[in-house]
Amino acid sequence: MANQDDIFKNIISHSKEYGFIFQSSEIYDGLSAVYDYGQMGVELKKNLRDYWWKAMVQMHENIVGIDAAIFMHPTTWKASGHVDAFNDPLIDNKDSKKRYRADVLIEEHVAKIEGKIQKEVDKAKERFGDSFNEETFRSTNARVLENQAKADAILNRFKDALEKNNLEEVRQIIIDCEIVCPISGTKNWTEVRQFNLMFSTSMGAVTEDSNVIYLRPETAQGIFVNFLNVQKSGRMKIPFGIAQTGKAFRNEIVARQFIFRMREFEQMEMQYFVRPGTEMEWYNHWKQTRMNWHQSLGFGSENYRFQDHLKLAHYANAACDIEFNFPFGFKELEGIHSRTDFDLKAHEQHSGKKLQYFDPELNQNYVPYVVETSVGLDRLFLAVLSKAYIEEKLEDGTTRVALNLPAFLAPIKVAILPLVKKDGLPEKAREIMDMLKFDNACSYDEKDTIGKRYRRQDAIGTPFCITIDHDSLMDNKVTIRYRDTMLQERISIDKLPEIIEEKVSFKKALQSLK
Ligand code: GAP
Repeated sequence: MANQDDIFKNIISHSKEYGFIFQSSEIYDGLSAVYDYGQMGVELKKNLRDYWWKAMVQMHENIVGIDAAIFMHPTTWKASGHVDAFNDPLIDNKDSKKRYRADVLIEEHVAKIEGKIQKEVDKAKERFGDSFNEETFRSTNARVLENQAKADAILNRFKDALEKNNLEEVRQIIIDCEIVCPISGTKNWTEVRQFNLMFSTSMGAVTEDSNVIYLRPETAQGIFVNFLNVQKSGRMKIPFGIAQTGKAFRNEIVARQFIFRMREFEQMEMQYFVRPGTEMEWYNHWKQTRMNWHQSLGFGSENYRFQDHLKLAHYANAACDIEFNFPFGFKELEGIHSRTDFDLKAHEQHSGKKLQYFDPELNQNYVPYVVETSVGLDRLFLAVLSKAYIEEKLEDGTTRVALNLPAFLAPIKVAILPLVKKDGLPEKAREIMDMLKFDNACSYDEKDTIGKRYRRQDAIGTPFCITIDHDSLMDNKVTIRYRDTMLQERISIDKLPEIIEEKVSFKKALQSLK
C-alpha cells in the first residue's frame, strides 16, 4: 500500500492532470506558495463556498453577508493590531542560509515525539488485539509516559516563552531540543526575530510612506468596520452575524504543503455580535456548529478534532482550531475565536466614531462582543480532496482512481456519453444535455471507449454517467452509471432530472445540519 507521502504526491499530480490546481505562472517556473484553480478546481471551490454560504447565511435569519474591498484604510491595520503584532518568530540556519518559523520547528519536534508514542500504541494494539485498552495503556506504559512528559514539558516551556514574548527563550528551546536544520543537519542557529506578515503596496502615483496600504491579511476587518452600516441598514438585533468570503494575503515564510499554506488565499469568515457576558455560550455553540458542518461532508468524524490555542492572539479570550487529518497529519482547518470587544473598541478609538449597539431589552448602549468562525477555503479544498481521492484495486487487477466527493460538491454532476459518434446518438445525447444543463453542470464526451470515458469521469468525481445507445433511440431509455458503486441501471430519460436532483442538491446536507 502506498504511504501517506506518496498519496499526497499523487493527489498533487492528480490535481494538475485533471485541471483542479496549477502552480501560478508555471511557464515562468512558478511563484512560490501561489496557486491557480483550473476548470475543475474552480467548480469544486465554488461549491464548497456555496455550501458554507448557504449553511451560514441562507440557513440563519440573523446572519447576512457582505463583500468588502481588499484594500482598506491603513489605520484599520494599526487599530486591529496587525501592524504591531501580526508577526512570525523566524530563525535562520547559518550553514544552509534557510529560514524557518521557530514555532513550527518546535511543534514539529513535539509531533515527532507524539509519533513515537503513537507507534508504541499501534504496536501494543496489534499485540493485544481485542483486549487492548488504549486509555489504560497510555496512562501506564513507562515509555509512553516518559515521552508524553517530554512533549508536555517542551510545549509548556514554549507557551510560556510566547506569552512573555521571550524570543531568546524560544531559541534556547530549539537548542535544548537539539533541533537541526533539515537541509544542513547543523544546529548553527541565528537569533529569533519577529517578521511582519502583511504585504504592502502604495496607493496613488507617488510612492511615499503616507501612501502605504496593505493587502488585507484577514477578511474579518472588513466586517468590523462595516458593523454599524450593516446593523443600521439591516435593522439587525443582537445576536446577529455578518459573513464574508474573499481573498486574504500573508507573506508566509514557510509556505509548504501545496495549498495548505499560501501567500494568497481565500477565507470564509463570520463575525457573530453578541451581548457582553454571553460570548462563552456562543463560542461553544459555534464550535459545535462548525464541527457539525465539517462532519456533514461525510469524510469520517475521526478525521476532525478540536485543539485549544497554545497562545491566545492579541484579540482573543478563548480560541480553538478545528483540526483535520491531512495526509501530513492533524493540522488547523478552521479557527473559532472569542474576540471580545477588542476590534470594535480599537476601531472606535482610532476612528473617533462610536461603534455601539443600543440593546432595547437592557435599555443600554454597549460595544458588542464577537465570536468569529474563520475557515480557509483552499485548506478546506485540500481537506476534501485528500479524503475524496481513492486508488482502488478492481477485480480485473486494474486500479481505478476516483474522487469520492459528495455529489453536491462535484465539479461536474452528469457526464453525457453517446456510445458511438454516429447513427443519431450524438443528437439524442445533445437533447438530454439540453434538458439537464439548466440545473446541472454537465459534460459531453464522445471520445474514446466508454470504459476510458467512465474512468475520466471517476477521476474528476462525476457522480453520474449517462450512456446513450442505439436502443435509446427506440425506447427513450439510457444507462445511468453510478460513480461510487460503478453499478449501471437502465432508466427512462424523463426520470433523469429527479434521480439526479435527489443527490446533487444541497438540501439534504443542509437539512442534516439541524
Ligand atoms: N480572522 C481570523 C483569522 O484570520 P487565522 O487562524 O489566522 O484567523 C483562519 O486564519 C483560517 O484561514 C485558518 O484556519 C486557515 O484555514 C486559513 N489560513 C490562514 N492562513 C492561511 C494560509 N497562509 N494559506 C491558506 N489558508 C490559510
